[in-house]
Amino acid sequence: MKECYLKFINNEKIVLTDDEKKSMVNKFITIDENIECVHKEEELLTFIECLLTNKPEGVIVEAGCYKGGGSAKISLLSEAINKKMYVFDSFEGLPEHNENHEKNIYGKDVTFVKGEYSSAYDQTVSNVKKYGSEKICTFVKGWFKDTFGDFHEPLAGAYIDVDLVESVRECVTKFYPLLSKGGVLCCHDGHLPLVIELLDSNDFWENQVGCSKPFIEGLGTEKLIKIIKE
Ligand SMILES: C[S@@+](CC[C@H](N)C(=O)[O-])C[C@H]1O[C@@H](n2cnc3c(N)ncnc32)[C@H](O)[C@@H]1O
Repeated sequence: MKECYLKFINNEKIVLTDDEKKSMVNKFITIDENIECVHKEEELLTFIECLLTNKPEGVIVEAGCYKGGGSAKISLLSEAINKKMYVFDSFEGLPEHNENHEKNIYGKDVTFVKGEYSSAYDQTVSNVKKYGSEKICTFVKGWFKDTFGDFHEPLAGAYIDVDLVESVRECVTKFYPLLSKGGVLCCHDGHLPLVIELLDSNDFWENQVGCSKPFIEGLGTEKLIKIIKE
């Protein structure tokens, strides 16, 4: 078993029994084996562990689900802690854009193409139904700019994996203000210089999000960056 899963099972701060933790990890492994995921096991676990140790109030959102591998894992967590979950995605892949990402922080060339990571709505929902807990999920199909307007629920956590800086901007400006005290926002796009520039900007936080810039763990050094709401 992978080191990160063993650490999860042995983490005594997590508010689940040993059997519940083992059962959850076995289901996560089944998801890893059966759904094409664009995240590493430890990245999703970081988000899940924060929610299980901080126990913030509110619902959970995921923005950017692709085939639903992360959604299935987060839905199992949400079910275990009695929370509702919302999954936002175009189900048409990435939108048209004119962003030039050049190289990521690891020196690798990055290009994002319109339509990349497209996954059919029915296939994604069926993956979550088969391997996660689809019944506690609401899937919201469409571009973020069109679907976020009606969403106002207090948030325990937001997991953002959307690749483009404009999509990260839309997610953070929408979700950060809704986060409860102790709530966690993870962004999987911290390896992209344009995203780092955005999240490091006081002007972005003060004039677009409407608060002072919070401490952002991993900003500039990690792919998965994390903010805990004070
Ligand atoms: C890298 S994939 C997500 C991978 C997924 N989290 C996983 O672990 O397998 C990025 C997703 O973001 C979605 N996306 C990006 N920008 C979007 C936008 N502005 N509106 C709606 N969906 C968007 C794409 O459709 C795609 O499914």
